[in-house]
Amino acid sequence: MMTEERISKLLELETPCYAYDLVHLRATAKLALNEAEKYGFHVHYAMKANGHERILETFSSMGFGADCVSGGEVRAALANGFKPEKIAFAGVGKTDSEIDFAIEQKIFSLNVESLEELQVINERAGALSEKVRVALRLNPDVNAKTHHYITTGLEENKFGISEWQFSELFELMEQCHNVDFTGLHFHIGSQIKDLEPFKNLCNRANELQRMFENHGYRFTHLNVGGGLGIDYDDPDNVENPDFSGYFKLFHDFLELKPGQELHFELGRSLVANCGDLIAKVVFVKKGRKTNFVILDAGMTELIRPALYQAYHRIENISRVESPASERYDVVGPICESSDCFGKAVYLPETQRGDVMAIRSAGAYGECMASGYNMRSLHASVVNE
Ligand code: LLP
Repeated sequence: MMTEERISKLLELETPCYAYDLVHLRATAKLALNEAEKYGFHVHYAMKANGHERILETFSSMGFGADCVSGGEVRAALANGFKPEKIAFAGVGKTDSEIDFAIEQKIFSLNVESLEELQVINERAGALSEKVRVALRLNPDVNAKTHHYITTGLEENKFGISEWQFSELFELMEQCHNVDFTGLHFHIGSQIKDLEPFKNLCNRANELQRMFENHGYRFTHLNVGGGLGIDYDDPDNVENPDFSGYFKLFHDFLELKPGQELHFELGRSLVANCGDLIAKVVFVKKGRKTNFVILDAGMTELIRPALYQAYHRIENISRVESPASERYDVVGPICESSDCFGKAVYLPETQRGDVMAIRSAGAYGECMASGYNMRSLHASVVNE
């Protein structure tokens, strides 16, 4: 449950809007850092989860690296205090100007997703008379067992270089004189709650690393991406998720070479629970089969339920004392039937004007908002 003090502030907001709790954010981030530091691991914040400036500043000042997937994110990382030598840049479709910018900035690593891209990066680095640090993103063909839209490490996905391409890759690597091959990168998917797929990733990464070693390649770092899932039913708990078990698993199962660094790119697990989408009830509409709570926020503000059938906890913060005795479908105002935050949700008896908090919306919420139906979102608010 949120504190009374927080609730009273949230009740005053113009809606719809995102409300971030930086106290919760710092506590989560600190916990993750402490657990990672036990093993000397390095953590990058996956900026795609939430690019709010205050959130970026928080991570850069605490010593996190940044994980970027566009030139825009690299620029935002630099503008918000991340040092170039802590920035990783992945993505299957980097444009020439994004590649040039990353080379010029001398970032930690360009994570290369295809042979075609490697060739271009080598050429661009040559044209700029630079030697560029590259990590090869490999597609490990490991099933993350999560929603198919957020699975990335299967051969059918567009991400990374697959094993069947290795003989051609080894030949190409020989010719890439402007590239310093510094790392291997993996990312199997997102919202992975069961740790088993990460164990499978470790075993597969060990095997893949050996193949490169047999060809004379030694890497200074491995990067195992992000993907650690959270419990969407437990938004107020800073120990959600279990960072300790997660990092320990990599310590136990991933074989690091002497002096080799291990990097992570966590997004959701760091920021999901620091943000709520705050919305007001426009109408409570009676239906024959179900009653609808219609909010002034919809899939335009938070698309996750519509796109991935994702669950977010919904709380009527105007009536925290009342029992959750009524059943509603909680929906938005958008002209799409998929614009639904939850079906058969039990809430206190709800009225027009009540304020709802859609919880754990700090990750992939505001950054995925759209202007569909010509809507606009109020500026987000931050609680120190
Ligand atoms: N590294 C790479 C290369 C990634 O593609 C991602 C996420 C991450 C790290 C961070 O993953 P995380 O720790 O946040 O799971 N919009 C979807 C999630 C998309 C994830 C995209 N890649 C959602 O709302 O569930």
